[in-house]
Amino acid sequence: MERLIADMASRKPPDYRKLLSDGSTAIFIARVDGDVAGYIQPIYRPDRTGQLIAWHVLPEYQGHKVGSHLMRQGLEFLGDIDIYSITTIGTVAEAMHRHFGFKDDLSVPPDHHWLETPPPMAQAGLTAPQVALILERADRKLILDRMRAAADDPAAAGS
Ligand SMILES: CC(C)(COP(=O)(O)OP(=O)(O)OC[C@H]1O[C@@H](n2cnc3c(N)ncnc32)[C@H](O)[C@@H]1OP(=O)(O)O)[C@@H](O)C(=O)NCCC(=O)NCCS
Repeated sequence: MERLIADMASRKPPDYRKLLSDGSTAIFIARVDGDVAGYIQPIYRPDRTGQLIAWHVLPEYQGHKVGSHLMRQGLEFLGDIDIYSITTIGTVAEAMHRHFGFKDDLSVPPDHHWLETPPPMAQAGLTAPQVALILERADRKLILDRMRAAADDPAAAGS
């Protein structure tokens, strides 16, 4: 998490200011007893599909539904559109994406640079091949209905 925050901090603040002010993105932060436990960043791509460009929960808070709560916020923010995500092959995070209905994004060729180990990981000496995933809009609706029902939310029949 610290490495990721350092990576974010080094990106151009003006770009983030513009994205956050024009509604292209949002950053949802989960707190537990007032302490930051994790965050998710959904973003609109130029073609008005969506993408999750970050989804992280601190290790001490993992496995307690913080990630599910953040995922719901990310999917609700983006609305009724296809949503893309890229994650590391063979991880629990990949299994969780699939649990939420994400499938292989076959439009990304296997040799695409997106699927290489991300630079911060490569610099740390890690090898972490990526997989491109898509949550199709119909599957987004199904998973949100399931999440709302699980939360016993009266808005369960929404978009
Ligand atoms: C991925 C991550 C954000 C998930 O957060 P979390 O708080 O541990 O997740 P949750 O406890 O909310 O579990 C999420 C869902 O996955 C399910 N799940 C748990 N273990 C699972 C597994 N091995 N396979 C599939 N699904 C699993 C849970 O049941 C839950 O679904 P539900 O709410 O329908 O029951 C967190 O593990 C993390 O930060 N990992 C490291 C960073 C990372 O890899 N991020 C993804 C980058 S794209």
